[in-house]
Amino acid sequence: MNMLTKMGSAVLLAGCALGMGGAALAEGDVLYLRSAMKDAVNPAIFGIWDITNNAMSDSGGIDPALMDEAKWATVEARALDLAKVSRAMAAAATLRAAAPDDMAVDEGAVPMDVIQRHVDANPDAFRAFALVQAEHADKLANAAAARDATTAGALVADLDGVCESCHARFWYPEQ
Ligand code: HEC
Repeated sequence: MNMLTKMGSAVLLAGCALGMGGAALAEGDVLYLRSAMKDAVNPAIFGIWDITNNAMSDSGGIDPALMDEAKWATVEARALDLAKVSRAMAAAATLRAAAPDDMAVDEGAVPMDVIQRHVDANPDAFRAFALVQAEHADKLANAAAARDATTAGALVADLDGVCESCHARFWYPEQ
């Protein structure tokens, strides 16, 4: 392996340290929440919903007859992605709402510096919410690995509330 290739793979490894496509999600021990949401949390949950919404049973759970090995494996993998980024959110020494060049928001949306204040007011509570999501995602990965449609269906149904409880506290607590 020549020098350039070595450097290339080091950069690639750093970019993929959180299992994502290499966006500026984390630099050193600083984690950018906005990138984490857009580039890791969202793709993970959309990957899960993409499958489970199309395998819904009459009661709103997962119909095992509409699942197959590949679908279960994807749900498991995306749940593990979600656990990983959630743990990174809990573990980062410094939490930033967004990277300096990613602070712009639409009119009427909560400004990033306000979100930063919410997080800074109680970073330990933020980390606790992130860990709750990590544990929820781990349970979903285990249920998918066990092909346990009942448990997986209930965990997917409850995932929304896990997102929402953190958003209500740190994103738009005034609303
Ligand atoms: C531990 C706290 C926490 C959890 C858990 C969490 N979020 Fe977030 N999320 C935030 C914060 C804080 C913001 C506001 C900053 C921002 O816009 O990125 C946010 C913003 C977002 C955004 C907007 C990103 C943008 O700026 O365009 C999306 C989309 C999002 N979250 C999706 C999710 C989904 C889906 C889940 C659940 C699977 C989730 N989040 C779980 C804290 C959390």
